[in-house]
Amino acid sequence: MQNNSASSSANLALEFVRVTELAAIAAAKWIGRGDGKAADKAAVDAMRAQFNTIDFQGEIVIGEGAKDESHELYIGEKLGNGIGPVIEIAVDPLECTDSVANGRPNALAVIATGPAGSLYHAADSYMEKIAVGPKSKDVIDLDAPVADNIRKVAKSLGKEISELIVATLDRERHEELIKEARATGARVRLFSDGDVAMALGTCLSSSSVDMLMGTGGSAEAVLSAAGMRSLGGEILCRWKPKDEKHIKRLNDAGITDFSPIFDSNDLAKGDNISFTATGVVSGPLADGVLFTADEVVTHSVVMSTHPRTIRFIKTKHFM
Ligand code: FBP
Repeated sequence: MQNNSASSSANLALEFVRVTELAAIAAAKWIGRGDGKAADKAAVDAMRAQFNTIDFQGEIVIGEGAKDESHELYIGEKLGNGIGPVIEIAVDPLECTDSVANGRPNALAVIATGPAGSLYHAADSYMEKIAVGPKSKDVIDLDAPVADNIRKVAKSLGKEISELIVATLDRERHEELIKEARATGARVRLFSDGDVAMALGTCLSSSSVDMLMGTGGSAEAVLSAAGMRSLGGEILCRWKPKDEKHIKRLNDAGITDFSPIFDSNDLAKGDNISFTATGVVSGPLADGVLFTADEVVTHSVVMSTHPRTIRFIKTKHFM
């Protein structure tokens, strides 16, 4: 039996792309059919089956929920064929279930991995987030007013504030944030779902988004942090439970202090983090699945911290 090696997670990232590709293809068959649950199930089934063909000893730390809530890809589930490196895994087989149901953008099949103890075991709740690309990573501050963050990010990018694009989930809870951002003169891009794609999009010159601000899922925060580790940007997060149920869930997980601010190194620690995603419906991180008469085309991003690599992989599948 082999233990963690310095590059095990990185080597496996190229195996994991087959996992996200198959999950994305399975989910994409449900685009626009109004059935997010079926899309999610298709992605989960495809992801799980493919994981179990790979030589590794994986354990889900962020997945489809606790064992009593989910039969597949549940927290604590062991994956892989039981030989090879020991690795912990965060998955979102279908990030943006509703986007797939309604044919909207930003849907991805996503995996993040690292050695035991590297990924933050985030209970399912909300986190407040600011994400930016490499040039702005040192100027953001979750405690600072929205306007200060916007001014500093614009300056770090050499842009006028009026040129800056701030992406925010289109939710009632962001009314005040949107008002404050617009008051600076910045442009606010509201999106319906998918803050992993938007957070990581801030690091890509192919995307026009400069900053992500607002509150979204905690699992998505860890996945975004794993991607940031290779992209060189930053995501700052802090717990923001939405109701008593969330508070109880966090307390049950031993989290009672919601004040600490986490950065990408806190959520995805160490030198051996990988991030793999395949687009289901196009967004800033990856184009979606394309079905043609005789092939299926997928677009993936595969990143690892050691060696630090970012690969964009376009694959033709002859099914
Ligand atoms: P799902 O993968 O659960 O469909 O999440 C989509 C998403 O938009 C995330 O990107 C985001 O972090 C979260 O939902 C926000 O939660 P809510 O929809 O409850 O505001």
